[in-house]
This record gives sequence, C-alpha cells and structure tokens, in this order.
Amino acid sequence: MSASRIALVTGANQGLGRALVEGLAARLHPDDLVLLTGRNPQRVEDAAREVTQLPGTRARVEGRVLDVADTEVIADLAKELESRYGGVDFVVSNAITRLLPEDSQAARADEFIDVSNTATHAVLRSFGPVLRPGGRLLVVASSLGTLGHLDPRLHHHFENASLDQVEDAVESWRGAIHNGTATQAGWPVWLNVPSKVAQVAAVRAVAAERREHDLATGTLVASVCPGMVDTATSRPWFSDYSHAQSPSQAAVAVLDLILAEDVDPALYGELVRFGRALPWHDGTPPVEQDRIVTP
Ligand SMILES: NC(=O)c1ccc[n+]([C@@H]2O[C@H](COP(=O)([O-])OP(=O)(O)OC[C@H]3O[C@@H](n4cnc5c(N)ncnc54)[C@H](OP(=O)(O)O)[C@@H]3O)[C@@H](O)[C@H]2O)c1
Repeated sequence: MSASRIALVTGANQGLGRALVEGLAARLHPDDLVLLTGRNPQRVEDAAREVTQLPGTRARVEGRVLDVADTEVIADLAKELESRYGGVDFVVSNAITRLLPEDSQAARADEFIDVSNTATHAVLRSFGPVLRPGGRLLVVASSLGTLGHLDPRLHHHFENASLDQVEDAVESWRGAIHNGTATQAGWPVWLNVPSKVAQVAAVRAVAAERREHDLATGTLVASVCPGMVDTATSRPWFSDYSHAQSPSQAAVAVLDLILAEDVDPALYGELVRFGRALPWHDGTPPVEQDRIVTP
C-alpha cells in the first residue's frame, strides 16, 4: 500500500457515513486523505469542516459533492482519483434514500433504487478497477441482504449472478413496481429487502471475478452490515431504539475491517457483520404488516 492513502465514503455528511469518515480521519495518518462525499454542497462543506475540527482528527478531510444518483459523476470521480493519486485505497458505498413509514414505497422506488442499487453497481464498476493493491471496497448493506429474505421464486435472479444479471434483476423489479406486477411476482412491498439482497449479490458477483488476485494482494471486496444504528433514517422505523448503536459505535467494526492488516479469506466477498460472515442463504421473507427494521 502506498505511503499516502486515499479514502472515500458516499452519503457521508450524516449518520453512519459521517461516523466512518470521522473514524478514518482519526485512525489514518496526517498525509492520508479522506473524501467526505454527499449530494448537497452546503451539507458536505459543513460536515467536512466539522470533522476537520474534531480533536481526534489526524488525516486530511476534504468535502466533495457526489450525488450517487448520477452514475457518470461516479465514473468521473474514479477517473480523477486515478489520474491524481494513482487510485484509491478505501471506498465505502453507504448512501441511502430516507423513507418514512407513511411514504408509498412504490412512489419512492425510483429514487431509492437509483441511490442504493444503480449507484452501487456504478461504484463497483468505476472504483473496482482503480482500487490499489491492499485496498478495501465495501458496500454498506444490512442483514436483510441475505438471499433467504426473498421469496424463493426470486432466488434465481441473484444466485451465482454476474453483475450484469444483478443489474437486470434490479431493473426487472423496478419495472414490475411500475406496472403493478411486483407483488404477484413475489417482490415484497418494502423496498429495503430486495435492494439489500441486490447489493450483496452485486458485491458477490464482483468478488467472484477478482477473488484470487485480491487475496494475493491483501485486497478486500465485501458488503457489510453495521447492526442497528440510531440515525435519522432508521429512527422512524424503530418501535424501540434503546438498543441501537450510535453511528460512531456502529462504525467501529466497519473501520476495523477496513484497517485490518490482513484480509481473512472467509470474509472475502461476503456480507460481514461485526467481523463475521453472514450465510448467504439465511433469512425468511418479511411479513408485510411487520415493517420493523432488522439491521
Ligand atoms: N441505521 C440503521 O439502523 C442501519 C441498519 C443497517 C444498515 N444501514 C445502512 O447504513 C447506510 C447508512 O444509513 P444511515 O442510517 O446512516 O442513513 P442516513 O443517516 O440517512 O445517511 C444517509 C446518507 O446518504 C446520503 N444520500 C442520500 N441520497 C444521496 C445521493 N443521491 N447521493 C449521495 N448521498 C446521498 C444522505 O445525504 P443527505 O443528508 O443529503 O440526505 C446521508 O448523508 C445505509 O446503506 C443503510 O442501509 C443502516
């Protein structure tokens, strides 16, 4: 790994993303650079300034506007970092669209899928090739991302799928929501479940292609589950959030994974929660009436 490291987190002006930036800024070195990215220029600027001023911050922190709904902008940033720094060491795809329990899931589907899935595919495609040896490319998913959370009729879309096939499955889900056939086909109303399964499947697809080379160079591609975190996005969904972690508590296990000296082959390409891989086939489909967050 090069002496000066570059880290980038999406959706990082608040919540878990911001805590990850704070942790990276505290645990990296003064000549390392952490890019705090988000969609809103003012919120990004404010957050970057605040993190820079924290007493524990050691690395340089720079705010960068990155609206992940624009896949060309993702590709451009990856190219820019490659030409300026020769690549990037740590990338965390974390952004999510906030949904409220009273929102119509179908009405918000395009925005939600663009930010969680289309953007994840773009991050994997654009940043995978510019990840330096020894780097980390992580997608923040959730424990809802294991295949068993989907109706068995849908498993074939994501089992041993390539990234193109995951992308096709996501677009067919989106189309089914638009034409009113999603429920009939087995897609749950609650967007978060298929979205998280698709994120984990996308990571598995990319990881399957690069596993051997990455393990030889100490590089990790994986999805992560932070556990239950008390953030503005999750709070409206909790009936009891007394056991939820603060964002900085939840960031610790993810930061440990990012900054671990070695890559555990058992975690490579997997959905990792608190340092352990969650079995891909775990889970049961949600009961639609119980819209309870299971992180
Ligand atoms: N909270 C939990 O209990 C929990 C559990 C499991 C998994 N997770 C996962 O953890 C991740 C972070 O969730 P969180 O709870 O920390 O959410 P959060 O506090 O709402 O943060 C979401 C971030 O994403 C940003 N964002 C939204 N749309 C964007 C776009 N188009 N481009 C760039 N950034 C965008 C938001 O920016 P604005 O400030 O501009 O809106 C915000 O900074 C998500 O992937 C979520 O699924 C969370």
